[in-house]
Amino acid sequence: MIVKNAKVLLGSELVELEARIEDGVFKELGRGLRGDVEYDAKGLILIPGLVDLHAHLRDWGLSYKETFESGTSSAVAGGFTTVFDMPNTSPPLTSPSRVRERIESARGRIYCDVGFYATPKGPRDVKGLLDAGCSAFKVFMHKPLEGEDYGDVERIRELMAEAERYEALVAFHAEDPKLISGSEDTVESHAKAHKVEAEVSGVLKVLEGMGGARAHICHLSTARALSLVEEAKGRGKRVSFEITPHHALLDDSTEARVEPPLRSRMDRERLFSALVSGSADAIATDHAPHSLEEYLGGKASGFPSLEIALSLFLNEVNRGRIGLGTLIELMSRRPARLMNLKKVGEVREGFVASFSLIDLKREFRIDPSSFFSKAKYSPFEGRLVRGKVMATFIRGELVYEDGEVVSKPIGRVIG
Ligand code: NCD
Ligand code: ZN
Ligand code: ZN
Ligand code: ZN
Repeated sequence: MIVKNAKVLLGSELVELEARIEDGVFKELGRGLRGDVEYDAKGLILIPGLVDLHAHLRDWGLSYKETFESGTSSAVAGGFTTVFDMPNTSPPLTSPSRVRERIESARGRIYCDVGFYATPKGPRDVKGLLDAGCSAFKVFMHKPLEGEDYGDVERIRELMAEAERYEALVAFHAEDPKLISGSEDTVESHAKAHKVEAEVSGVLKVLEGMGGARAHICHLSTARALSLVEEAKGRGKRVSFEITPHHALLDDSTEARVEPPLRSRMDRERLFSALVSGSADAIATDHAPHSLEEYLGGKASGFPSLEIALSLFLNEVNRGRIGLGTLIELMSRRPARLMNLKKVGEVREGFVASFSLIDLKREFRIDPSSFFSKAKYSPFEGRLVRGKVMATFIRGELVYEDGEVVSKPIGRVIG
């Protein structure tokens, strides 16, 4: 297949190029290419498929919140061609047999590629979980999934020593349980309970316990914790971090229940500048769908983001606040590297032809009622944004076009 008339970002310049795709791979990028099947991408920009390090696809006992089908439809509609699924499922992904089961149950039901995080109950489980096919590990410091306890530096140290032997990435929800206190009934009290100090202390514990292993900080939300991580990176620590659309674009003047909570305007601005400066490793969605009743009733935190994350940031590109190249780095190339995905995250000869076509000028209003996600609510509801995904391809096959998922679930499990 040939994609014609698309613009591709080469260095910092948009260049009109044709792409010849064979066997799911970019075979040739150039001009005057010919082929039997042609896809006209006039006026659109071809970007590498996005990689989300942090999504909750739910399914299983939480299928009423999201399923593999609905979550990955949401992903391809938002330009994501690979997502990594979080292990706080029901039952949770804490054993090799459950990892194998989850891989089996995802097969044939996913529209994009999916990798799985698992949570080790202790260092002893690390090897078995990796052998079963998980891509990385996730530690919820403040909310153990099955009685495991990583609230202390000692426990973190033991886990990280074992993870280091396999070069495994360990992602942390870094909020110190000892510093979360108070009622969480209302959005306001919930935010008060999850104080800045809880994240700062959580991050300090990870930095102290990680040794030479690879640690990743999920949804970093405060300027103070950001400085600590940046400083540790400067010292050569193998720590990476992600920032979510909501923490970079919203602050506590918006009412939304999420963990960690929306912070001050100052925090938001510092986080956004870490994206622009390139100190951040990734933009990750923390796509966290719930039923509206649970969310509004204060029983659950989080909201869906896969479908809108890219548009929210393309809008910032249009406003001149971040470069398109920087954005693609943060949403595709760098997260792909962190997960050791081979030949993914760049539009380049020899690379996997999973990509999207975007219309940078297309304007629309965010309307959660049209989400593929089962969770039809968003703190970004009503926002007018410019920049939209028009089509998404997985290994050269069209999966999403103009508001519709158009293929079978051809995604692969990363395992
Ligand atoms: C996430 C969820 O709903 O699973 N919620 C959230 O507020 N972010 C859990 C998490 O990522 O901590
Ligand atoms: Zn979390
Ligand atoms: Zn809480
Ligand atoms: Zn999450």
